[in-house]
Amino acid sequence: MASAKIMLLPGDGIGPEIIAAARALIDRLGDFEFCEELIGGASIDERGTALTEEALEACRETDAVLLGAVGGPKWDTTDPGAARPEQGLLGLRKGLGLYANLRPVKAFPALIASSPLRRDVVEDVDLLVVRELTGGIYFGAKEREPDLARDDCVYERYEVERIARTAFESARRRAEGEGRARVTSVDKANVLETSRLWREVVDGLAGEYGDVELDHMLVDNAAMQLVAAPSRFDVIVTENMFGDILSDESAMLTGSLGMLPSASLGGDGPGVFEPVHGSAPDIAGTGVANPLATFLSVAMLFRHGLDRHDEAVRIESAVESALETGARTPDLATGAETEREAGTAEITEAVLEQL
Ligand code: NAD
Ligand code: IPM
Ligand code: MN
Repeated sequence: MASAKIMLLPGDGIGPEIIAAARALIDRLGDFEFCEELIGGASIDERGTALTEEALEACRETDAVLLGAVGGPKWDTTDPGAARPEQGLLGLRKGLGLYANLRPVKAFPALIASSPLRRDVVEDVDLLVVRELTGGIYFGAKEREPDLARDDCVYERYEVERIARTAFESARRRAEGEGRARVTSVDKANVLETSRLWREVVDGLAGEYGDVELDHMLVDNAAMQLVAAPSRFDVIVTENMFGDILSDESAMLTGSLGMLPSASLGGDGPGVFEPVHGSAPDIAGTGVANPLATFLSVAMLFRHGLDRHDEAVRIESAVESALETGARTPDLATGAETEREAGTAEITEAVLEQL
């Protein structure tokens, strides 16, 4: 088999630390070709922009893109004209046509106690947030005057339809052999016109997916239900900004934002695989970043990006087994006697040992 070509985009903050750990993991799994480009603040500093056209073009020529994180206080500014690290990430998603962002949220048995929520609330959690990624308020027209600002939220029918199909089909795949699939479409249809179009389009597809149960939930209620009764959810499909917020909230069901992976799919070219969390400037450079969200993103890269399911399962099992040995980065630690304190290097080693 010709070896796959993987683009590494370390980015900023803890990005380079977790990508180095992920590289060690991938190296254990076989012979892969790697390339690397700058993105985010690192690219602004070197090249004046958060993502160059050449870097985007180089990404297009690979089989999959693994991204760390972008951003940090160094580049935070309220100046509307200034280059921002986050523009690199948004440009990458838009440039590669990645409209479908999958964010699976699954409770690892070893980490039940790491969640701030009660055991009985989180132990059966197994849900998937399907976040629309290239539309909505993130990409609408923006305007800024000294005393006025505007961000337009726009959705077109085709954008809602294709992400809804992703959700229905994901629910079907997840239910294979395991009973009924359910999609919960989350919107704010009591206030927003974009949400009313969203709901109409999702409803219009329900007939085609008669085997999938569909319900609608307003986003404020969904935010509450996610902590009150998260195991009632199967697949959640929602627009770009609601998905951003609800996925960080959902991360705490697993114990830490440092556990949540993602896959951004839907274009003609490679997908982008990245942890849900950001560049964690508060712990960057201290050697304690949790690399497991990135490892689980590597598993998604193998599954969705390279169609190599065996490696995906091997990574996921190794992460689970490593956690069962008691290794815990600080974000996961509870102080229990069975736990062993680990930094990025130690927990990476613990996972590699289990492969
Ligand atoms: P963040 O996700 O970077 O951090 C939130 C909190 O979670 C921090 O306390 C951090 O230490 C902790 N955390 C996050 N990931 C962790 C990990 N792997 N291990 C241990 N702890 C972890 O969010 P923020 O602080 O709001 O944002 C910081 C910067 O990151 C901002 O510039 C933001 O725009 C950017 N950001 C980037 C991405 C991305 O690149 N995909 C995602 C979110 C935020
Ligand atoms: C994420 C991040 C990004 C987003 C930022 C950094 C632009 O928070 O991937 O969740 O809002 O999509
Ligand atoms: Mn986010």
